[in-house]
Amino acid sequence: QNEIYRRGMFENVLPTVTTDPNKLEEQAKRAMNAKSYAYVAGGAGERATMDANRLAFRQWKLVPRMLRDTTHRDTRVTLFGKTHDSPLLIAPVGVQRIFHEDKETGVAEIATELGIPYIMSTAASSTIEEIAQASGDGKRWYQLYWPHDDEVTISLLQRAKKNGFEVLVVTLDTWALSWRPWDLDGAYVPFVKGIGDQTGFSDPVFRRKFKEKYGCEIEEDVLHAALEWQKDVFSGRAHTWDQLELLKKNWDGPIVLKGIQHPEDALKAAEAGMDGIIVSNHGGRQLDGAIGSLEMLPEIVEAVGLKLTVLFDSGVRTGVDVIKALCLGAKGVLIGRPWVYGLGIAGKQGAKDVLKGILADLDQSMGLAGIKDIQGCDKAMVRRVQYGA
Ligand code: FNR
Repeated sequence: QNEIYRRGMFENVLPTVTTDPNKLEEQAKRAMNAKSYAYVAGGAGERATMDANRLAFRQWKLVPRMLRDTTHRDTRVTLFGKTHDSPLLIAPVGVQRIFHEDKETGVAEIATELGIPYIMSTAASSTIEEIAQASGDGKRWYQLYWPHDDEVTISLLQRAKKNGFEVLVVTLDTWALSWRPWDLDGAYVPFVKGIGDQTGFSDPVFRRKFKEKYGCEIEEDVLHAALEWQKDVFSGRAHTWDQLELLKKNWDGPIVLKGIQHPEDALKAAEAGMDGIIVSNHGGRQLDGAIGSLEMLPEIVEAVGLKLTVLFDSGVRTGVDVIKALCLGAKGVLIGRPWVYGLGIAGKQGAKDVLKGILADLDQSMGLAGIKDIQGCDKAMVRRVQYGA
């Protein structure tokens, strides 16, 4: 935070993006092409769940403590035995090429520079191998959109493992794409363009099977390749709890289920031998009308907090939001749209500046709240208020 102020005041070096979280979306709208902007800013249905995600944060307030020495804050966390500089994680976001040519590889680079784990999406527009290289000695996790074709699934997992991805994140809430008016009204076009080099297409097993069926390489018929991929991955047919066995058998490392909203599902995740969950409603992009993600966090932590590592996303916009989620029991917090807006505005430097802003706010606000380290973020620091709306 000091760095941002100092450079601004004395060196006239300003961040490439606004530091006001409420203006970021507006700035992105001006900078990005309309369809790419609509793809990130959009949500399911009438975006009621996106609104609920934000309202949920407004209804929890910090209760600061005084005369505590918080001059030196420690924001480090340990997740699955690895220590990270902060509780932030880069949420998996697909087709980053449609936001900026810096795409996944650029964001993976800046994640490493900031010491933030990069969660790569199965729908990435860079390959597993390219992202691993860009991330270098940084921490990286792999997010699986779970194909029904087990051979393809196993191939993706093997490639991820071989390339140093340590944690497997399995997204459960997107076995079919939701009703997304923002995409249906036009943004879907850049998505299909971006899909051309998503990770499935570079997968040797998927490629072999495509060639057997269509008699040509994927590059010669990208549209059908995209349709084949969609048919398998966003098939409209969900997996079931017993099928997690396959992932356990084929992944030597922690497995985290993303998209858990009900405490009973959290308990089932623990029973199934999972290592963690991400309490998430996909940033309001899947089931519109679903409850604000933060609303469910305390109940879920109550149910499984001692058994599983509980992470959180959906609606986090500021460092203060991060503190609130941690106080309600999350061990780490994924950031989605904010850095995507930064990427759209000014490439990887924009994404970096957005994340630096959130980190600075987290650090400064922890100090002002009287919290010295992440362990100090507990339920005693927050109160729920009701504002009606
Ligand atoms: C996503 N998200 C997502 N999740 C996932 O598991 N795999 C993916 O490929 C994507 N792709 C994706 C694209 C875009 C443009 C967005 C905005 C989001 C969901 C993401 O990981 C995360 O759950 C939400 O973004 C969190 O909510 P906020 O921070 O955007 O409010």
